[in-house]
Amino acid sequence: METLELTQEEQFQARIDEDIRIEPKDWMPEAYRKTLIRQISQHAHSELVGMLPEGNWITRAPSLKRKSILLAKVQDEAGHGLYLYSAAETLGASRDQMLADLHSGKAKYSSIFNYPTLSWADMGTIGWLVDGAAILNQVPLCRTSYGPYARAMVRVCKEESFHQRQGFEIMQTLCEGATEQKAMAQEALNRWWWPTLMMFGPADADSPNTEQSMKWRIKRFTNDELRQKFVDMMVPQAEFLGLTVPDDKLQWNEAKQGYDFGDVDWAEFWDVVKGNGPCSRERLQARVDAWDQGAWVREAALAHAEKRKQRAA
Ligand SMILES: [Fe+2]
Ligand SMILES: [Fe+2]
Repeated sequence: METLELTQEEQFQARIDEDIRIEPKDWMPEAYRKTLIRQISQHAHSELVGMLPEGNWITRAPSLKRKSILLAKVQDEAGHGLYLYSAAETLGASRDQMLADLHSGKAKYSSIFNYPTLSWADMGTIGWLVDGAAILNQVPLCRTSYGPYARAMVRVCKEESFHQRQGFEIMQTLCEGATEQKAMAQEALNRWWWPTLMMFGPADADSPNTEQSMKWRIKRFTNDELRQKFVDMMVPQAEFLGLTVPDDKLQWNEAKQGYDFGDVDWAEFWDVVKGNGPCSRERLQARVDAWDQGAWVREAALAHAEKRKQRAA
């Protein structure tokens, strides 16, 4: 039989090419495992740190209704983090180690969460743009080659689309409101537009891992392809709201049936990735404090579990 002549690695690639999911007990190349652990744990960290900018506004939401919606949304993000840590654990990563790497600054998370949330309109803009970008990044991950990651993303994406709509609805309310409210929405868009474009990662030319990740079907689209889709999706939505996208190079290109747009400030992007974002230190410190202050809860839960085990025995 011909398949007997295939190496383990070739058989693995053949399964991927046929769109057969890789499961935790299957053989996989070490580099595939490492790439996934890095990507999934970064994604999990982003969900956790992503709670902080919006958590900042829970106590200041303009109504009880807005407060409960925002609270539910932030809670969803905690849940996303938990599914993702669990998915990474199926690859042999330990949760303690992943969290230790986050707390020491060794692990990365999405740089978007290192920007401050200065007004209520930021809650609208984050839901609309940041969760919108997350959806574009994550919908293709529902078909990613690693089973536990793909399955976790199905539920995450359903919740993200709720997040995006609630953000858009905040923007719509502001844009249909008083002149000051509309100005607040525009000011928030001005600050968040470019950092959101950075969420898709470096330009393809500066993304050396993309090719291998596409071959393994961990990634389905390149960073630049997703960035283009995002611009094409968001510009009509901004027009609908009556807002101006802060890019003077933005122009419809009839030939490519998409928008041409200006260059992302890559110096700013790399600076934030390196930990020099406006809120980088504050965000990390908040996570470390939460971990330290939660130590007694973890200890109590373990002691309780131990007691129950003894009682059952
Ligand atoms: Fe999320
Ligand atoms: Fe979200």
